[in-house]
Amino acid sequence: MKKLPVYVSEEEKREMTAAAEAFLCLTNRPQTYHIITYGCQMNAHDSEKLAGLLRQMGLTEAADRAGADFVLFNTCCVRAGAERRALGNVTWLKELKKDRPNLIIGVCGCMVQQPHMAEKILQQYRFIDLAFGTHNLHQLPMLLYQLLTDKSRVVTITADEHLIAEGLPVQRLSPYHAYVTIMYGCDNFCSYCVVPYVRGRERSRRMADILREAEALGTDGVQEIMLLGQNVNSYQGGDGEGFPALLKALDGMGIPRIRFMTSHPKDLSDELIRVMEESKHICNHFHLPVQSGSDAVLQSMNRGYTRTDYLRRVAALREAIPGIGLTTDIIVGFPGETEADFLDTIALVEEVGFDAAFTFLYSKREGTRAAGMTGQISAEVSGERFKRLLSAVEASAQKARESMLGKAESVLVEGLSKRDDTKVSGKGTRNITVTLDGGEADVGTIVPVTITSVAVNTLRGERR
Ligand code: 5AD
Ligand code: SF4
Repeated sequence: MKKLPVYVSEEEKREMTAAAEAFLCLTNRPQTYHIITYGCQMNAHDSEKLAGLLRQMGLTEAADRAGADFVLFNTCCVRAGAERRALGNVTWLKELKKDRPNLIIGVCGCMVQQPHMAEKILQQYRFIDLAFGTHNLHQLPMLLYQLLTDKSRVVTITADEHLIAEGLPVQRLSPYHAYVTIMYGCDNFCSYCVVPYVRGRERSRRMADILREAEALGTDGVQEIMLLGQNVNSYQGGDGEGFPALLKALDGMGIPRIRFMTSHPKDLSDELIRVMEESKHICNHFHLPVQSGSDAVLQSMNRGYTRTDYLRRVAALREAIPGIGLTTDIIVGFPGETEADFLDTIALVEEVGFDAAFTFLYSKREGTRAAGMTGQISAEVSGERFKRLLSAVEASAQKARESMLGKAESVLVEGLSKRDDTKVSGKGTRNITVTLDGGEADVGTIVPVTITSVAVNTLRGERR
C-alpha cells in the first residue's frame, strides 16, 4: 500500500509567511538574488518557485551572479559531471566573497539532499552559507531569516519523502510557457539512478489542485503547459484518477498546447494513447526513455520491460497517432554492457527512428545498486561507443526531419532567430525547432506553417 502524500501544514505555511515578513524588517537583508540552475525541467521549475519566494521576501533579480547579494545554486546529481560543474562554479564565488564579505552563497536541490554531500559541504565548503535539500525548498524564508539573525551557517536536509508543498509563489521564466508539476518522486529504483533517493517517494498532487493551477495559467494567457513528473504515467490523483483522466480534463480546458514528461515505457497504457489520439491540444510528441536496446542490460537496469515490449509500445503509439515524434534517453557503458548489447541499442535507434535522443555516458552514483556491479566499462570503451551512438542518433534525427517536408506544423514562436532578425524560431508540436519569417510581434503566438526545407538540427517553415 502506497503511503499518502503529506501536505505542508497551514501552520508551517503561516510560519514561513511570518519569517518572510520578519525578514523584510532586517536592515542587513540581501536586496538582489541570482539563481543558477542545473539539471532537468523539474529543477528549472523548482527555481521558478525559489525565485517566487525570494520576490515575496522583497528581493529583486540581478542580471548575473557578480551583481547579486544572494547567489543560489539549484543543483543536480544524476551524473557525476553535474555535481562537479556545480561545485566548481560555487568555488569560483569564493574569490568574489573575499571582496564582498556580505555576499550570501546558497546551494540547494538534489546534490545537497545526499547525506554524504551535505556532510562534505559542512566540512569542506565552509564558504557556503546556506545549504538545503529538495524537501526543504518551501522553508527558504525561514532558512534565510535564520542565517541572517543567528549569524551562523545553515545546512539542513530533511528526509520528508512524502511531502507536497502546495500554493508556493512561482516566478515564471516565460509569459507564454509554464511548467505544472503533477507528481513528485520516483519508486522505480532503476539500478543506475539516484533520483529515488533524492526526490523521495512517488506522490501525486490532487487533480483539483492541478486543474485550478492550469486554469489560472490559461487565464494568464499561457499558450503551452508542460506537465512534470519523474514518471507521469503513474500519476494517481486523490480519488484514484490516473494520468489519462487528468490529461483528458486538461485537454478540455482549452490551453492551446499540452506537453508532459517523463514517461516510463512500462506504464504507458492503451488508455493514455487513446486520450492522446482523441485530444485537441496534446502535442504530437512523446518522450519515452528506452535507456538500452538490449534485454540483458534492461534487466540489469531494473527497467521492467524488454526491447520487444518497448517496440510494441512504439508501434501502438504510431498506429494511433501517425506522424507522432518520438524522443528518448539512452545510457552507454552500463556495467556489463557488451559490444553485442551496444549493437542492439544502435539497431533499436535505427528501427524506431527517433527525432532526437539524450545520450549519456553511464555515471557511477553512490548508493545505487549499479555502483556495486561487476563489469564496469572503461572510459575508453564507453567513449568510443558514445561516438557511434551519436552518429546513429544524428542519422535518425535527420531522417525524421526529412519526413516532415511538405507537412503542416504549428510553431509556438520563442524569439527572433539569432542569426537573422527578419526570422523567428520556436518549437513545432513535434518539438523540433522551426524557423520562419517574422518579427517581435510573433513571439508567444502560435503560427501555422508548412515545412519547406530541412537545415542542420532545425526545419524551415512558411506561413500557411
Ligand atoms: N548515468 C548516466 N545517465 C543517467 N541517467 C540517470 N542516471 C544516470 C546515470 N547514473 C539518465 C537516464 C535518465 C536521464 C534523466 O538521465 O537516461 O532517463
Ligand atoms: Fe531514475 Fe528510473 Fe525513476 Fe527515471 S524512472 S527517475 S531513471 S529511477
